[in-house]
Amino acid sequence: MTVDTAAIARAARLLEQGKLVALPTETVYGLGADASNPDAVAAIFAAKGRPSNHPVIVHVARDADLSCWTTQVPREARLLIDAFWPGPLTLILPRAPQVPAAVAGGQDTIGLRCPAHPVAQALLREFQQGQGGIAAPSANRFGHVSPTTAQHVIDEFGAPGVGPVAAVLDGGHCEVGIESTIIDLSRLDTHGPVLLRPGQISAAQIAEVIGRMPALPDVAAPRVSGSLDAHYAPSTPVALVDSSALTATMQQLQSSGVKFALISCSEKFAEKFATLHRMHLPADPDGYAHGLYASLREMDARHTAVILVERPPQQPAWQGINDRLRRAAFDSAGVLDKLL
Ligand code: TXA
Ligand code: MG
Repeated sequence: MTVDTAAIARAARLLEQGKLVALPTETVYGLGADASNPDAVAAIFAAKGRPSNHPVIVHVARDADLSCWTTQVPREARLLIDAFWPGPLTLILPRAPQVPAAVAGGQDTIGLRCPAHPVAQALLREFQQGQGGIAAPSANRFGHVSPTTAQHVIDEFGAPGVGPVAAVLDGGHCEVGIESTIIDLSRLDTHGPVLLRPGQISAAQIAEVIGRMPALPDVAAPRVSGSLDAHYAPSTPVALVDSSALTATMQQLQSSGVKFALISCSEKFAEKFATLHRMHLPADPDGYAHGLYASLREMDARHTAVILVERPPQQPAWQGINDRLRRAAFDSAGVLDKLL
């Protein structure tokens, strides 16, 4: 991927002026602002329609001085940084006192991530001479599906310079396709490492590096907005259906005259219902995650009554995908009941 250095420099200056810049990362596009500027951070919340008590991840350059952001980099964090940065892993650590509380949604922790995308890296090197942090949640309106192309960002917020976003850096289709794995290391003494959001980097891979399996979130765990039900959802209702029930469900919908779309991943549905609005995703977790959000957006644009999603495999490698699908399809049974 060639990086447009003039566009990067312009975007860095806009960020330094407190403007919002959308940037590609390897997971999804982020809506970026200067993390040390509370007004710029407030503009992210306003643009997204996001409640102000939801913390935002701060993106840092590869060799950033983490003591600007956190009071403590425990051994586990060091090990994970060495193993997975730059990459799709966010660490939750104790927040340094000089970091604006607004970035952390008022919490005493901070989410840090070093993204692998060459455009994000180039921007982080250029912004504040590589010493700054770019606060960036996914570049979508609150609750919507995260964007995986520059066009998705424009679909959410309008053209750059016209809407709330001053510039959109185009980095192609995000490779990973679902948001970073989030691991909480801010309460190691009392709770150990906690997996707040599953992603491409699995709990097992984390365990291999730090020597223990991260726990699942407890009620006192730091809040993660992506962990709300009804997150990552298109406007068309989504229903997750087991492979074994899919043919019967489609037949029922068809005979009731209900328009529907299908996102499938097993080959046997590829040829059936040929006239349908349909996307087929690869049956491997990396390929599936890469195409998932674009497929949901594309099927949403067909304005059917429901988007059926064939339930993918339930193995650990699919945990991040199943987490996002469960939230997109938060009322599967209710949706189908209403239609049939
Ligand atoms: O892959 C990603 O992580 C993407 C790209 C742009 O980097 N970003 C992303 O941001 O997904 P967002 O804001 O949509 O989700 C970030 C999640 C939120 O659920 C937020 O609650 C959590 O990270 N988070 C951020 N800082 C936190 C903190 N201090 N404590 C607990 N959770 C935190
Ligand atoms: Mg998000």
